[in-house]
Formats: sequence, structure tokens, C-alpha cells
Amino acid sequence: MLQVKDLFVAYGQSEALHGISFEGRQNETVAIMGRNGMGKTTLFKSLMGVMPLKSGSVTVAGQDVSHDESFRRVAKGIAYVPQGRMIFPTLTVEENIETGLENSKTRQIPDDIYALFPVLWDMRRRKGGNLSGGQQQQLAIARALVTEPKVLLLDEPTEGIQPSIIKDIARALNEIRKLRQITIVVSEQVLSFAMDVADRLFVIEGGRLVHETARADTDQQRIKSYLSV
Ligand SMILES: Nc1ncnc2c1ncn2[C@@H]1O[C@H](COP(=O)(O)OP(=O)(O)O)[C@@H](O)[C@H]1O
Ligand SMILES: [Mg+2]
Repeated sequence: MLQVKDLFVAYGQSEALHGISFEGRQNETVAIMGRNGMGKTTLFKSLMGVMPLKSGSVTVAGQDVSHDESFRRVAKGIAYVPQGRMIFPTLTVEENIETGLENSKTRQIPDDIYALFPVLWDMRRRKGGNLSGGQQQQLAIARALVTEPKVLLLDEPTEGIQPSIIKDIARALNEIRKLRQITIVVSEQVLSFAMDVADRLFVIEGGRLVHETARADTDQQRIKSYLSV
């Protein structure tokens, strides 16, 4: 569903990704694990078209999107929940979700969104900025989901969120995959969360994928050693 081939990405003269290749299959969740500064956000921005590729390709459901602007990538089936969530603090919860509906015919928020995140229904008239970090994360996921993605990208969704809510987010991601059979790619530093949601785990270090494992075969100590400084 998602094919990433030999991505090279640079900030000016400084190359940050040095040939990243992986794929995400339909109905599969993939975790990209790595410490701060290893290239997770750069990878997601380049998949989304927020940063240009120096070389390499990104294919979604057989369509090459490597040179498309972000809004075209969304139309072709990628959605992105950025690090730090980036919801609109002065818009209500409902209005925040509606910003994801700009290209839909009905502009109606589908019922299944509120079924996944009941707290968003309770808070639908509140301003996004008044929600807790965990609620804002759920809002950002809801906004991404209404674009009906085939591939959902989440950049460090557990960052700054309390443990009980992290469990809720893991449950929601597993439910989303069960309902929609989509591909989910999540970047993470929290191994327990990744083990709750991912079928395969990769480790990114210095802009390269240096380790890959299926969940069942995961050597957690080894992954932890990559994650500790
Ligand atoms: N705007 C930027 N300009 C220059 N270098 C950057 C910029 N953003 C990130 N980098 C560099 O790119 C590398 C990867 O960063 P990033 O993708 O943000 O890592 P992560 O998300 O894993 O913490 C780091 O070395 C970082 O310093
Ligand atoms: Mg980051």
C-alpha cells in the first residue's frame, strides 16, 4: 500500500535521510523507532510532501506521489498526524474535524469518528486549545481520518501524553485498522506502545533504517539499547 524507495532528503547542504526504503502493507501497522534527531519527522515530512526529496520515490496504492504537493497526496490517500498534533486552538473540536472534510461531498462528520473517540463528541463545542494533550491527539487523528486515508502516518503520537491515555490511543489505532484495513505508520520512542500496535518495527538511526523485526520476534532489549542514549 505504501512503498518507500531509497529516499534521500536534505536541509540545504546537510543530508538528513540517507536512503530509506520500506513498505507498509494493507492492514498492517509499522513502527519507526528512534531517538530524538534520528530522522523520524524528516521522514514523515518527506512522505507527506512537506519536504522535497533529493532522490527516491514514494508510492501509495500503486500511484507515484514523489513529486506531488501535500494536498494531492491527501487526495491520493495519505493522511498525516504531525508531531505536536498541530490542531487549531481557537476552532471548536467540530470545526477542527471539519477542516479535514474540505474535499468531501457531504462535509458531514461521519458517525464512526465519534464512535472511535466518544470524548470528542462530548467536547464537540469546546475550543481545541482547551483540550488535554491526549484529547488533542485524538482530535488530530480524527481530523486525519475523515480524509478516508489508505495510509495514516502518525509522528510520535504518545509524546507528552499520560500513560492511561496512551493505552486509549493504542486501542483506537487497533480499532481503526480493524474497521478500515488501512496501513498505519507510526514513529515512536515508547516501545510498549509500539508493541501494542505494530506488526513490524524498524529502528532509524542517523537517517538510516538499521534494524527490522516482526513483533513476534522482537528483541526488546536490543530495541531499547537503540533508544537509550
Ligand atoms: N529545519 C531543520 N534544519 C536543519 N536541520 C534540521 C531541521 N530539522 C531537523 N534537522 C536535522 O535533521 C535530523 C533529523 O531530525 P528530525 O527528523 O527532526 O528527527 P526526529 O524526528 O527523529 O527527532 C537532525 O540531525 C536534525 O538536527
Ligand atoms: Mg520528530
